[in-house]
Amino acid sequence: MLGSFTAMSPELDIASFYDALAPWYATLFADFTGEADRQGDVLRALIDTSHEVVDLAAGVGTQAVPLAKRGFAVRAFDLSVRAIAELRARAAAESVTVEARQHDLEEGLPDLVGQAHLAFLLVGNSAAFLSDTVLKGLLRRIAEYPRTSVLIGSCREYDMAVFAAADRGTCVFEDSQSGSGIGHLVTHRWYARGGDEYDVEVEIRSSVKASSTAGDVRLRTSAHARDRDRMTALLETPGLSVRWLEPADTGFYQPIYLASPK
Ligand SMILES: C[S@@+](CC[C@H](N)C(=O)[O-])C[C@H]1O[C@@H](n2cnc3c(N)ncnc32)[C@H](O)[C@@H]1O
Repeated sequence: MLGSFTAMSPELDIASFYDALAPWYATLFADFTGEADRQGDVLRALIDTSHEVVDLAAGVGTQAVPLAKRGFAVRAFDLSVRAIAELRARAAAESVTVEARQHDLEEGLPDLVGQAHLAFLLVGNSAAFLSDTVLKGLLRRIAEYPRTSVLIGSCREYDMAVFAAADRGTCVFEDSQSGSGIGHLVTHRWYARGGDEYDVEVEIRSSVKASSTAGDVRLRTSAHARDRDRMTALLETPGLSVRWLEPADTGFYQPIYLASPK
């Protein structure tokens, strides 16, 4: 299938994609809670204990909930209403407080009342769902934020060569892995769209119909591939200084960037 045309699932806008994925999100990982705790441990070591966490694309709370468990005050935002509902349920199940609400970053940073110094999060490749224009606007606001702040993000390392030669709709990447313990097979596919745009497709197939939510899903939406140089250039545009931390050093599954006002 790789490098060939294949029948794609219908394209969803990003909110619909993540709304549909929200009840399934935990099945993307063999052990979601263990993975979230590992991510919480890595991030805790990078965040000043005096800082309040503002998770800008929190999803179902992969980072927000474990950071609240580790004693941080956390405000969480996400485009997806259903992801926010999952996040609230996870926080309640872990007996922690996370102030969570739906917010579209295309409208800019959420209103952030308060005097705290902030650690903004854009973890788990969330920047890939924002255009250069939207991302530049957000970064400018973070660079201007009146109290000391830091942006901590993580992103995929894209091999731009994968997209460069491909015709629109070509499947340029496919990877299948076992998901959570109830017999899920998770497949990620990317389809070239031209330039740095691509479609990401997630297929979750349950071989064991052991739970009431077991079934099949296949969802597709569009995203932006940026390699490290491109991401660094965007972060530096409003004058942020950028430091990259490698997976081999942090134990995190993606490279992490720390961006702060100079
Ligand atoms: C790959 S997920 C990462 C979520 C979470 N940080 C994690 O690592 O599990 C990307 C998230 O970005 C959110 N997102 C995409 N576009 C957004 C926007 N315009 N405003 C706010 N959130 C957005 C999606 O809803 C999704 O939850």
